Amino acid sequence: MKRYGLFIGGEWLEASSGTTFDVLNPADRTVVGQAAAGNAADVNKAVDAAARAFPDWSKRTARERSGLLAKIYDGMMKRKEEIARLMTLEQGKPLGEARGEVQYAADFFQWYGEEAKRIYGETIPANSPDKRIWVLRQPVGVTAAITPWNFPAAMITRKVAPALAAGCTMVAKPAEQTPLTAALLAEIMQEAGLPPGVFNLVTGTQAEEIGDALLADSRVRKLTFTGSTEVGKTLMRKAADTVKRLSLELGGQAPYLVFADADLEQAAIEVTASKFRNAGQTCVCTNRVYVHHSIKEEFAAILARYAQELKVGNGLHEGVQIGPLIDEQALDKVESHVRDAVDQGARVLTGGRKLRPSEQETGCFYEPTVLLDTTEKMRVEQEETFGPVLPIHAFETEEEALALANNTPYGLAAYLYTRDLSRAVRVSERLEYGIVGVNDGMPSTAQAPFGGMKQSGLGREGGRQGIDEYLEVKYVSVGLK
Ligand code: SIN
Repeated sequence: MKRYGLFIGGEWLEASSGTTFDVLNPADRTVVGQAAAGNAADVNKAVDAAARAFPDWSKRTARERSGLLAKIYDGMMKRKEEIARLMTLEQGKPLGEARGEVQYAADFFQWYGEEAKRIYGETIPANSPDKRIWVLRQPVGVTAAITPWNFPAAMITRKVAPALAAGCTMVAKPAEQTPLTAALLAEIMQEAGLPPGVFNLVTGTQAEEIGDALLADSRVRKLTFTGSTEVGKTLMRKAADTVKRLSLELGGQAPYLVFADADLEQAAIEVTASKFRNAGQTCVCTNRVYVHHSIKEEFAAILARYAQELKVGNGLHEGVQIGPLIDEQALDKVESHVRDAVDQGARVLTGGRKLRPSEQETGCFYEPTVLLDTTEKMRVEQEETFGPVLPIHAFETEEEALALANNTPYGLAAYLYTRDLSRAVRVSERLEYGIVGVNDGMPSTAQAPFGGMKQSGLGREGGRQGIDEYLEVKYVSVGLK
């Protein structure tokens, strides 16, 4: 069983409160480890350490920072299996998916290790022969990250790697359900030789107290958060007092548009991968399928067949493709969405019930579910279900499909399947989303700028753009006389 303290200033410390909390396996509710229960006093210590480390870290050469990030990547690769198993234990996702996430997470260190060397400035022609204008890009300073439980490794590295590459230091607060993966990553950073205080980790169950302490501290110049739109809005209000920079990766409500010319088997493979990844607990998961009415029945039958074949259970068991939902609250939401859809006339093609795969598997399992003939009035089409439920809604025209897809306050990811190139270009350009997958249900990758429009967030993570979130632009105007 893993036991971790707080990682502050390069040391593992007890929490100021002297207390720890149990971390549970969502598949069978057994205790898999313990983490220190940090509070506002610990945040203060962590910010002290990050502020002390900043002058030295920000002055290191890009080459040095790059070398350290490469070592962290190597460390993650060496301990890939260990990280993946720990992630499955505390988060529940199938081991194969956890391994995929470790690779995805490590890729951010590799990518930003390389990007660290390309933080270029520019010179601007001045209006006078006796002036020069230089544009510098400098690290913003101490940063804070608040990360979710659904991707316990990748949502941390997607923030830490660009921050460190840019020359910033960081204090991270992982979700209380998944602090152990975060602590293991901190251990790997320590082993790689990251200087004390450059990365600090405060685990705990008092999310609001910890978040408030990070937000109130004017030494913290930027907050990056992944989580719900509701919490994102609260953080935004609180960040106003110290005018902090913000990156917010918030909720999604992803539509998948399937046109009549689609290769139905291939489209169903993509939709299934997109929907049921992480048991549907992914911000970019397909949340609603819009299919051309001429292929509705046939396509729905294929999707139902694929969903039926998915094996549900403890993520550590061989062949399992869908793990448990994170907790009772998540299960209640899924159940209430399905009930609401059925009460309003949706047909259940497969699933629709909670599940007990075996005596020992006492967690919150739910059958992969396909609902046909859902409507815009139903909660499954209005809200993010965050579970293994796939609603299908038929459309007549491209215009109607686009209107349905865009009719939401969210704008994170959207997908379409077509073999018509003109349609692919036309529709992808009109979808009001930060990420569009054309015949691709799994577009996430370290080198692309992940992020949303509308109430799905601010800023981008990943890709060349992701590092800009951690850099201030300064210009220097130099008179030569
Ligand atoms: C998320 O659910 O926020 C992250 C998913 C991804 O990176 O693909």
